[in-house]
Amino acid sequence: MWKLSVPLLAFVSYVAGLNILLTNDDSWASANIRATYDALKADGHSVLLVAPAVQQSGKGGTFVLPTTNITEAGGEFGTIAAGAPYFGSDAQNGDLFYFNGTPAASVVFGIDVIAPKKFGSAPIDLVVSGPNEGQNNGPFVFTLSGTVGATYVSVERGIPAIAFSAGNNTHRSFTTNTGDASDPANLAAQVVKNLVASVAAGVNTTQERLLPLGVGLSVNIPTFGPESNCTAPPFVFTRLTGGALVAHISINSTTGFPVEDDIEATGINANINGVREDPGETPTSAGCLTAVSIFSVDYDAPERLALFIQHRLRAAVRGTLF
Ligand SMILES: *[C@@H]1O[C@H](CO)[C@@H](O)[C@H](O)[C@H]1NC(C)=O
Ligand SMILES: *[C@@H]1O[C@H](CO)[C@@H](O)[C@H](O)[C@H]1NC(C)=O
Ligand SMILES: *[C@@H]1O[C@H](CO)[C@@H](O)[C@H](O)[C@H]1NC(C)=O
Ligand SMILES: *[C@@H]1O[C@H](CO)[C@@H](O)[C@H](O)[C@H]1NC(C)=O
Ligand SMILES: *[C@@H]1O[C@H](CO)[C@@H](O)[C@H](O)[C@H]1NC(C)=O
Repeated sequence: MWKLSVPLLAFVSYVAGLNILLTNDDSWASANIRATYDALKADGHSVLLVAPAVQQSGKGGTFVLPTTNITEAGGEFGTIAAGAPYFGSDAQNGDLFYFNGTPAASVVFGIDVIAPKKFGSAPIDLVVSGPNEGQNNGPFVFTLSGTVGATYVSVERGIPAIAFSAGNNTHRSFTTNTGDASDPANLAAQVVKNLVASVAAGVNTTQERLLPLGVGLSVNIPTFGPESNCTAPPFVFTRLTGGALVAHISINSTTGFPVEDDIEATGINANINGVREDPGETPTSAGCLTAVSIFSVDYDAPERLALFIQHRLRAAVRGTLF
């Protein structure tokens, strides 16, 4: 079932340079986002980085705009001086921006305020979010993740977008990157570069979108680092559901306080949409494989299920068909 992998990059002869807006939730100074910026630039893309000034993990699509300048001293990893404006760019590279808001707010600030200055009237071809420090597997985490939040907000705006979430969850500054190809941030950046190249291969973006309207990708990369021998995980098509976990609460008998222990439950794993044959992304990305899930931001139930319910409720609820 894993033979349905994304075409190998070795066969891609020409990849057009894209206008890419790069964001995340772990801050503009994280090792992963900077390594990915370098890798996408080196592959010929025009890349604008706009990402939160500080760590904004777990914010989902929460939309919080700044009402003050930078007060949290130093920004993430001491990259911004206290009292600095609510957004700004790196002193050496004017394409690297921080924004003092949530991930969803940062990407929309990038789309509406900063991108027009960099790309002019040319559209953003693709939003890339991440790679997150830690995987975001299954629809439950999909909803909570700021990395994915920035992605679904972009898809809602009509811009093709891909969330990347890497198994290595070490929160680290770009200044700790060893520069070696085996650094987990550089390995994850190669995975991003390769998938973006596959998505772009053969597409003339002045004629065609990279992904259909309302659709995005959520990609879970396995763990890289000393505790893993995985360095070049193949891509595998997956569903968000299938072995996905959802929150469950137990009471700790010692402390008496509630403890979250996630379980595999029936509702979250119902196969309603998606390709039935595809494995779930949660078990898939636990091995040395990169799970590529395709999501839509149309939260309606499919018509066949909606009509079943509408038919039952037709006496009580007015509708077009009844
Ligand atoms: C925020 O920073 C900008 C740029 O330095 C400055 O012009 C503005 O007065 C500041 N606003 C506040 C409320 O501190
Ligand atoms: C892409 O499409 C535009 C508009 O149709 C055309 O002018 C351009 O030559 C195409 N580029 C390539 C590389 O085919
Ligand atoms: C994640 O990456 C960091 C930094 O390279 C490394 O110290 C850590 O051991 C890695 N974690 C795993 C599970 O390999
Ligand atoms: C990685 O490979 C080395 C050498 O083959 C082996 O000793 C080690 O147990 C492997 N580690 C993991 C996590 O598989
Ligand atoms: C319950 O809490 C105690 C004290 O914090 C902790 O040591 C223990 O591991 C917890 N047990 C479980 C099952 O989480």
